[in-house]
Amino acid sequence: MKITVVGAGAVGATCADNIARKELCEELVLLDIKEGLAEGKAQDMMQTATLLGFDTKITGSTNDYSKTAGSDVVVITSGIPRKPGMTREELIGTNAGIVKGVCENILKYSPDAIIVVISNPMDTMTYLALQSTGLPKHRIIGMGGILDSSRFKYQISQRLGCSPADLNAVVVGGHGDTTMIPLIRLATWNSVPVSNFLTEEEQQAIVNDTMVGGATLTKLIGTSAWYAPGAAGAALVESIVRDEKKLFTCCVRLEGEYGQNDICLGVPVIIGKQGWEKIVDFTLNDAEQALFNKSADAVRSMNDVLKTL
Ligand code: LAC
Repeated sequence: MKITVVGAGAVGATCADNIARKELCEELVLLDIKEGLAEGKAQDMMQTATLLGFDTKITGSTNDYSKTAGSDVVVITSGIPRKPGMTREELIGTNAGIVKGVCENILKYSPDAIIVVISNPMDTMTYLALQSTGLPKHRIIGMGGILDSSRFKYQISQRLGCSPADLNAVVVGGHGDTTMIPLIRLATWNSVPVSNFLTEEEQQAIVNDTMVGGATLTKLIGTSAWYAPGAAGAALVESIVRDEKKLFTCCVRLEGEYGQNDICLGVPVIIGKQGWEKIVDFTLNDAEQALFNKSADAVRSMNDVLKTL
């Protein structure tokens, strides 16, 4: 098994680190355009191998895609991150060109790869990757909903004073501060609806805090977060390479599911060795479906910007 992570910034390097620690592949390539960055981080990670006890061989490359040849899975984290006060959507002009170029280079050397998109604005970058490569839809997966769902569980756990591991909660829709939809109605604490323990106000506060989860961290840190985004990317890769059939919210192409077409948006999907294997389509209530449609409208108008670039 060979995995490539494109972009050796904080998210890419953290994702690679998690992939190595989990020994998801024999060979892991980290690639970046900045001279020496990927090589340096790869060496640094390799120097943890005897301490952490993993056997994955990590190498770095400055923009030499031939080193990525024959990758089974490629994670794209390239592009500029958010600065405080910026939305993910403001990155589109710069990141669209970068992501398109990366996809072309990757497929030259790994025509069968499954592509995981983390670059922002993620829903639009996933759509762009699909449109520009013409790959079968199952092979392009946007990572956003797993991260947002993990942040959602964190927020619930803080309010309930419980272990996040005991929670089941899911965020669907876009991966944007105003487009994501934390489905609080369906959130449970070991199967018991959290509405048994939280007031309406507390539930709304959890939803609000989840939606601005990334922005809150950007304000605190000065740039985008990386621990949870990197770990979420690795969890997605793990379900692919181990064929786990995990049910994660991922950004995938919709063809009628949840009432939407010609768009990539976050919905529950089964992730396995074919990429995303099946959308789990269930009926949202009217309020949730209205939010989903609104989210789709916002992402669609962002996708329209691609035509003007
Ligand atoms: C975040 C970025 C990675 O949500 O989109 O932190």
